[in-house]
Amino acid sequence: MLSDGLGVKSMDKITYIGLGKMGGAMAERLCQAGHKLTVYNRTHAKAQSFAKLGAMVAGSIESAVEGADVVFTSVIDDQALEEVTALLLPHLKKGVIHVSTSTVLPKTAEKLAKLHKEAGVIYVAAPVLGVPDVVKKGEAMSFCAGEQGAVDKVSPLMRCYAESVMNLGEQITDPVVLKICMNYSVIAALELISELFAFAEKSGLDTAIVQESLHHIYAHPGVRHYIDKIYTRDFDKVNFDVTGGDKDVHLFQKAFTDVGVTPDIAHAIGDKFTQAIATGLVGKDWSVISEVVRARSGLK
Ligand SMILES: NC(=O)c1ccc[n+]([C@@H]2O[C@H](COP(=O)([O-])OP(=O)(O)OC[C@H]3O[C@@H](n4cnc5c(N)ncnc54)[C@H](OP(=O)(O)O)[C@@H]3O)[C@@H](O)[C@H]2O)c1
Repeated sequence: MLSDGLGVKSMDKITYIGLGKMGGAMAERLCQAGHKLTVYNRTHAKAQSFAKLGAMVAGSIESAVEGADVVFTSVIDDQALEEVTALLLPHLKKGVIHVSTSTVLPKTAEKLAKLHKEAGVIYVAAPVLGVPDVVKKGEAMSFCAGEQGAVDKVSPLMRCYAESVMNLGEQITDPVVLKICMNYSVIAALELISELFAFAEKSGLDTAIVQESLHHIYAHPGVRHYIDKIYTRDFDKVNFDVTGGDKDVHLFQKAFTDVGVTPDIAHAIGDKFTQAIATGLVGKDWSVISEVVRARSGLK
């Protein structure tokens, strides 16, 4: 349990909205750290298991945020975040901190920070780098920005799921810009790794050698994890699903073109996601774009 001296006090009421793969993992970590959480998920069935972790399961956003001091959200995209915000904002007491962990556009973060300020509450942009299993071990990375008093207050909470909390200051768009940079780099690596395996296989090189060599070039455990996933073609254990990946590619395209940069790699990868969705790969991990690369290469 956190101390009463700094950060969030044990009696503070914390609400978590959005219990998908990432939100569920973060909420679980907060419960395990001893925080009394109130949780809400649009599809109510996903929230029920949190009662066993000691959380209060709310039936509506309105009741979930009633009396809350801190509200976390993790929803899929910009539209969902705007919808959820419109529902929760009128019910927050003054000074509440909304910690938004979704990956969204910089201009969405800007718009929401303004709306929160007008309502007398505080928006902290805090997207998360890491996959659900990494979050469950408390080893994710959180990029955050916002009013510094609020960031200081919620940082101990973010440390329940993130071993590193990078406070980027007051500029609300900075964490989402950084998150887009990191995710674009990962998705480009997925595409490249997929192409390299297909090329090696068609050229008759043992792909186990490619796997081992790629481990040396891409030393980060997260990227190694995807090298192995693509090598073993294990796409059923889902970190982030195909529709999420497709959402991210559109997000990169929009974010880049908004500032006059052409995301050529995202355009090429977007086409792979379109094919993955059209060929029934929805529900698989986003690295399944590798199967599209294989199919286009004439590999089974
Ligand atoms: N998975 C990853 O590896 C990963 C890593 C880093 C960041 N992220 C980011 O984390 C966020 C969540 O991703 P995820 O993988 O956890 O996705 P997910 O498993 O698909 O969960 C999405 C969540 O959003 C909720 N939601 C969607 N539309 C909504 C709406 N209109 N109103 C209310 N709730 C809505 C869903 O509710 P229902 O259950 O009712 O559908 C669910 O709780 C995304 O912004 C993603 O980019 C994901």
